[in-house]
Amino acid sequence: MGSRILGCGSALPALRVTNDDLSRVVDTSDEWIAKRTGIRARHIAVEETATDLGVSACQKALEDAGVDAGQIDLIVCTTGTPDALFPSQAALIRAGLGAVNAVCFDLNAACAGCVYALTTAHSLLQTMPGMRRALVVGSERMSRAVDWTDRATCVLFGDGAGAVVLERCDDDQGVLASVLKNEDDVDDVLRANSLYAGDFPFTAEGVAERTAEQIAAQSEAGGQTMEEALASTTCVGDAPLLLMKGREVFKFATRVMPEVLQEACDQAGVAVEDLAVVIPHQANERIISYAAKKLGLPLERFHMVIQETGNTSSASVFMALDDARRAGRIQPGQLIGMTGFGAGLTAGAVVLRA
Ligand code: ACO
Repeated sequence: MGSRILGCGSALPALRVTNDDLSRVVDTSDEWIAKRTGIRARHIAVEETATDLGVSACQKALEDAGVDAGQIDLIVCTTGTPDALFPSQAALIRAGLGAVNAVCFDLNAACAGCVYALTTAHSLLQTMPGMRRALVVGSERMSRAVDWTDRATCVLFGDGAGAVVLERCDDDQGVLASVLKNEDDVDDVLRANSLYAGDFPFTAEGVAERTAEQIAAQSEAGGQTMEEALASTTCVGDAPLLLMKGREVFKFATRVMPEVLQEACDQAGVAVEDLAVVIPHQANERIISYAAKKLGLPLERFHMVIQETGNTSSASVFMALDDARRAGRIQPGQLIGMTGFGAGLTAGAVVLRA
């Protein structure tokens, strides 16, 4: 038994921000960003939520697959920037789609989330009685996690969502092999904080002292109503700021991406050269170029959308897959490799037959 991809979809926010536009926000230039990363533009969600983007990508994937939302049994959403801590991002997308028969949950494996989510959905389709079709979706608003005063990181990221419909099949088609890998991030090379941002009323010694005036003023100001909170576009307060040691991430990525892809090919019993297309995590064109060289594959085999999207974290592989398919790069029967790496540290690869 296996599971194959029936359809793909992706969604970008309306606002397109070029490198030149960004040079009005931080001290940077199109030349620096393009040369170091390959990025020319990214899309930023001003009005759109992660739910809006995820629902849109899923609707396109459902349409592509010729499947109704009601025929979906499982939704796995991978995200590091959900609209809420709970309900899960998957639950919000389920409601937006009307996927009333779906079991749903989130999964966070940072930028490697795509391969972790695909592997999880594939495994559940094989083992859970009655589960036949899954939506696997990555939806990210990285623009709410980055520090817009830090030029070393903010220029790298963008917002977007991508999705696939995965269906259990009786032959060994679709997903052939999957490799997941973790290493401790001992040097703290990648982190985004999402701690409670409000006024915390406790210290290690006990309840924090407040004057009667402070307590009265807080009662008067009151908390936000549910409507006000939902209208806010911030994910979790003002706390989450992304911290990254770029060079260390670069070294990790260029070491681990070829490793996991090679392992997945070995597991599938195919040669790396047999991969017709590789869909890598879209973090940096130079990382992809290094990985291609190490694997002995021509760079043209690696499909990229990073020029237009920036790094959309766990959505990026789904988005690039959708672009490759719509560009006619993926033909039935071809071998496809997908690979990602991210905070944690996480890495993984999937080999499948289209
Ligand atoms: N514009 C102009 N100059 C800049 C910018 C910018 N946006 N950012 C940094 N600089 C400057 C630095 O201040 C530094 O100046 P100095 O030499 O005067 O000190 C100089 O450019 C070089 O900076 P480095 O950080 O050393 O640049 P490097 O060549 O390492 O490139 C980069 C930085 C692009 C971030 C690279 O390290 C990289 O791609 N790393 C991997 C990052 C990555 O993939 N992150 C993904 C994270 S999340 C995920 O997807 C898993």
